[in-house]
Amino acid sequence: MKVYIASDHAGYEMKEAIKHHFSAGFDWEDLGTHSSESVDYPDYAHPLAEMVAQSPEARAVLLCGTGNGVAMTANKHADVRAALCWNTEIAALARQHNNANVVVLPARFIPAEEAFAIVETFFNTPFEGGRHARRVEKINTR
Ligand code: RB5
Repeated sequence: MKVYIASDHAGYEMKEAIKHHFSAGFDWEDLGTHSSESVDYPDYAHPLAEMVAQSPEARAVLLCGTGNGVAMTANKHADVRAALCWNTEIAALARQHNNANVVVLPARFIPAEEAFAIVETFFNTPFEGGRHARRVEKINTR
């Protein structure tokens, strides 16, 4: 499965760890950043969100220090539903209820093992549809 991934400098190490941990079965397309040198998170979140907006069935992982900067940026794009997830329960609900297509990780606030578990849960949890489909449809209408 092709998966987009991007981070700023604060998420760089965790991004690399996630790619390594899930090297089997995931076809990563890494949109940067490629070092721990300081960068501006929108410069990485916008390009990733553009890829997901072009094919909303795509899946992606975004990271920054808190997760908030990249989530705010990605969610400016129609059909991108970027969910800030700090535990597996939030990740499961982001898929079940929100049909999130981007999982956002707060790299400075969760350990790597938690990040791996969140990514695993996110990619293995289906959207429930039903009443949630109606609500997700309404996200883009205003
Ligand atoms: C970078 O210092 C930090 O501001 C960024 O990673 C993120 O937390 C912004 O929301």
